[in-house]
Amino acid sequence: MIQSPRGTRDFLPADMERRRFYEGVLRQVAQRSGFREIQTPIFEEAELFILRSGPNILNELYAFKDKGDRDLALRPEMTAPAIRSFVNNMSNDPKPIKIFYFGQCFRYERPQSGRYREFFQFGAEIIGTATPQTDAEVIATALEMIKALGLKEYRVRIGHIGILRKALSRAGVPADRMPEVLQKLDKKLYDEAWPLMEDVGVSKDEADLIFEMTDTVGGIEVLEKVPGEESEYMRQIVSYLEAMGAGIPDIDLGVVRGLDYYTGMVFEAEAPVLGAEKQICGGGSYTLSELFGGEKVFSTGFAVGFDRILLALEKEGSTYPIKKMDAYVIAVSGETTLKAFEIVGMLRRDSISADIDLADRKMAKAMKHASSIGSRFVVIVGSEDLAKNSVTLRDMSSGEQKIVKISDLSAEIRAH
Ligand code: HAM
Repeated sequence: MIQSPRGTRDFLPADMERRRFYEGVLRQVAQRSGFREIQTPIFEEAELFILRSGPNILNELYAFKDKGDRDLALRPEMTAPAIRSFVNNMSNDPKPIKIFYFGQCFRYERPQSGRYREFFQFGAEIIGTATPQTDAEVIATALEMIKALGLKEYRVRIGHIGILRKALSRAGVPADRMPEVLQKLDKKLYDEAWPLMEDVGVSKDEADLIFEMTDTVGGIEVLEKVPGEESEYMRQIVSYLEAMGAGIPDIDLGVVRGLDYYTGMVFEAEAPVLGAEKQICGGGSYTLSELFGGEKVFSTGFAVGFDRILLALEKEGSTYPIKKMDAYVIAVSGETTLKAFEIVGMLRRDSISADIDLADRKMAKAMKHASSIGSRFVVIVGSEDLAKNSVTLRDMSSGEQKIVKISDLSAEIRAH
């Protein structure tokens, strides 16, 4: 039997109903805050992701040649495509441009719970402003999404990659060696970061100071350790978040992020209920447009790991409203089948969700099927009732039955 490829999943009807419900919640939050949706291709020129995504993403890239010998790649994330599209199509639009997107991304990772090779991101970007207000707006939108989904337990940390880059640069790490050191710090692998730093001449004392900085997490007081314009900038972000009533994230100067393009504020959210793969959202400010042939434009954005946040909601026992079928129409005998089809057509035109027996089933079996699909009502179409232009309407939750005129049927179902 052929299975779906490793790290991919099939989503069955019940999965899709749940996923679409939560996707709708995210879409509402995005639109309420002035973001508008875009869609970009699932594959792009491989170069788009090679230019500035960093070693983590490169190792995991699904890259291939097409029949025209072009180097292409399945998108591992959607920020680079969004900015490419901005450079191609939106660069003259009034700034800031606020966009959001939802779709699948591909990374050749080792699959495990919450980590897939095909997964979905819901993300948003604000393009064209470089202010603490912009960064606060992005963090607030992400927080609002997490809250609107109903996740109970989560933690958000914000940092500033500029502070860390400056400290590393001052300690002697050259720009071309920065990504590999940052990659180790991202995972808090100090034992592996140190030899890399020692190699480029960083002293042990300086390295320890940096490790201490990336290890300190707390309130706004953490910023006292790093005087300078960046920490003042962070204070302003926090004050805007406070003003919006968005909640105050922890300050963690060790937030590095797995991608290489960030330049300023960076943030991550995690759901402890998930265990190892607990990061549910990540983002920050960056510039990419100049790499793709545009002017240098500052942007800030984030992406929610849709599959992971849904997993966290499930683990927390969160439920969502299940939409049931309104009516299931059953013809008592072959003679009334045509009339039953007429009725199902009428109900659907009246915007009532209705299904009908397609298998010439006997009454009892058809009834059983109606209850298995969770229909709220069953419409029984028999010749006796039809003689009076009526049908029998059965309420499946109470078991009550009554005779209803066909002309009143839609109103009757709608009233319940
Ligand atoms: P990222 O942190 O690489 O950031 O991915 C965002 C989220 O996608 C992660 O927090 C995680 O929840 C989810 N995710 C990543 N890899 C997987 C996987 N293999 N399986 C399931 N979920 C996964 C970005 O991609 C940036 N583009 C975010 C951004 C937007 N920064 C600025 N704008």
